[in-house]
Amino acid sequence: MNKGGGRLQSMVDRLLFSAMIEARSCDRFKLLSAEIKDPELSMFYYILMISEAGRYNTFNRFARKYGQKIDAYKRW
Ligand SMILES: [Fe+2]
Repeated sequence: MNKGGGRLQSMVDRLLFSAMIEARSCDRFKLLSAEIKDPELSMFYYILMISEAGRYNTFNRFARKYGQKIDAYKRW
């Protein structure tokens, strides 16, 4: 995380960091849903994957929307 960039930079970094955490969880649940043989459990992880993807998108969108002049795409 960028230190000393002010509150706005800190917010954008925290949003992007949160997006990264959600993306990693999404990736893990995707692998689990694909590899688990039990169909019900596989569907459970698939639904979790979709949920994580939604939060990944939300955090990224907020970083772009509220980051004002900070280039969240570049920072990502
Ligand atoms: Fe999550």
